[in-house]
Amino acid sequence: MRQSQSHSLAGARDNYDLLSRLNHWLIAFAMIAITIFGFYIANFAPRGPQLGQLFGIHKAVGVLILGFGVWRIGYRLLQGFKAEAVEMPSWQAKLSHVIHWVLIAAIVIMPLSGIIGSYFGGRAVEVFGLFTIPAGPEVKGLNNAAYALHGAMAWAFVIALGLHFAGALKHHLLDRDTTLLRMLGRA
Ligand code: HEM
Ligand code: HEM
Repeated sequence: MRQSQSHSLAGARDNYDLLSRLNHWLIAFAMIAITIFGFYIANFAPRGPQLGQLFGIHKAVGVLILGFGVWRIGYRLLQGFKAEAVEMPSWQAKLSHVIHWVLIAAIVIMPLSGIIGSYFGGRAVEVFGLFTIPAGPEVKGLNNAAYALHGAMAWAFVIALGLHFAGALKHHLLDRDTTLLRMLGRA
């Protein structure tokens, strides 16, 4: 999807609609929360019978995020990306676009790699009694590869999010422009 190259010094003449803002903040909250939860259960949660339950919740929430994420990304692609709120050096605009694409990729790759990992680990995924993704045949290589991708993409997401967050703060606090405000509906 090509991003519009027109810029404006006034800023925010091209605002995000309410649905875009709700989509952005809901997925942002869900992705940050499930990532913290994922790192916690994979590395720090006490081993024992509850661990399986915690993973069950992680997996079910992840599947729901995939459903909502497909809608959120589809809506953005249909609408197209907005031009930057303010004029900025082209390297900054390009970097922010690359970061947006890494974030978008994470919304899809994180749950899909988890689902594929579970499937080839021979484990079904129960989604809060709504539906169940069945277990597949155990294929150790695919199971490991999918979880390796899950772990690597988690780090790519954390790095992209750090840069994305730092960029939003820079625009708001240092440049004092409308980049963050228009995503909050206040520009
Ligand atoms: C607290 C954390 C976050 C802050 C402060 C924040 C802030 C922003 C702001 C200000 C924009 C508008 C940029 C512009 O108009 O040029 C934006 C866009 C965007 N953000 Fe975030 N964001 C956060 C978390 C996230 C997360 C976790 C994701 C992905 C899971 C994400 C994905 C995106 C994407 C894809 C865009 C491009 C426009 C769109 O499709 O909505 N953001 N964000
Ligand atoms: C938005 C969706 C998801 C996010 C952001 C996410 C994030 C994470 C993170 C950050 C970890 C810790 C990785 C590490 O410490 O190396 C993790 C581990 C894990 N996740 Fe997810 N996850 C998501 C969805 C899913 C789904 C849908 C499944 C399965 C159906 C799943 C299954 C697992 C498993 C089994 C682990 C442990 C893997 C291991 O320790 O090797 N995740 N997840």
